[in-house]
Order: sequence, then structure tokens, then C-alpha cells
Amino acid sequence: MPQILVIHGPNLNLLGQREPGHYGVDTLQSINQELLELSKQFSVQLSVFQSNHEGQIVERIHQTLQDGTDFVVINPAAFTHTSVAIRDAFLACSKPFIEVHLSNVHAREEFRQHSFLSDIAVGVITGLGKDSYLLALHAAISRCNK
Ligand code: DQA
Repeated sequence: MPQILVIHGPNLNLLGQREPGHYGVDTLQSINQELLELSKQFSVQLSVFQSNHEGQIVERIHQTLQDGTDFVVINPAAFTHTSVAIRDAFLACSKPFIEVHLSNVHAREEFRQHSFLSDIAVGVITGLGKDSYLLALHAAISRCNK
């Protein structure tokens, strides 16, 4: 059974109440629930991790070397635009990943238009709200089953 890890970065624990004009009204719990249902439908083992701390995200990526994770879906949130450490963790672990964003980062402030991860990601999905995650999970499952 393929193992897929979803990582949510900082402030995403506040989804539902946080800037709904950008991020919608769905809570993180309801998004995780939909991801879990999709993974059951396709017989995939799903783990979900959220952290507001860069180092914890780096360490969770390191863990994928030992826990059998085949593929990662990550919304790095603000760390997208700042974190060389998360970039280096993915390079160190050679783990394929898809970068997702709820909002269309290209239609927002200039500083959101640079990502430290996009060029080493398998792909990037941005601007589709919770569908960004669902489409990324579909793509991850399809990659794992190839
Ligand atoms: C985000 C976009 C980032 O620029 C922002 O810092 C976030 C969320 C998104 O999902 O649209 O926290 O990754």
C-alpha cells in the first residue's frame, strides 16, 4: 500500500477563521477528513502533520527516510518564501513532493511569488482552495501507482 504524507505549514491550523477571503472557510480538520476519505477510496495509507515550527517540519521530512513514506504533499505556507532548510531537507531525503497553496500566490504580494521549493517539486498546485490538496493527493496516488 503506498504511503503518502501531507504536511501543513505555519498558521494553517487556523484555517476556517484565518483570512477567509484568501484561504476559504474550510477548517484544517475538514480538509484532512476529505483527504483521508480519498486515500481510503484509493487504498493509500495517509499521514498528516501540521507544525508552526520550521525545525519540526525539517525533522518530519527526515523521518520519511525511515517510515516508509513514498510521496509528500506539502503546503509550506509562509516557509515557502523563506526556508532554505526545508528545501535542503527535501534534497537530503530525495523524497518526491508536490507543493500546494490554497490561494493563488501569483496573484498576491510580490514576496509570495518566489518559492524555495517549486523548482525541486514534482509539481505545484496553487489557487484552488481545498481542491489544491485534493488534486495533489490524486496526482501523488497516481505517481505512486505507476
Ligand atoms: C499559502 C500561501 C502563503 O503565501 C501563505 O504564507 C500561507 C498560505 C496558501 O496556502 O495559499 O500561509 O501557502
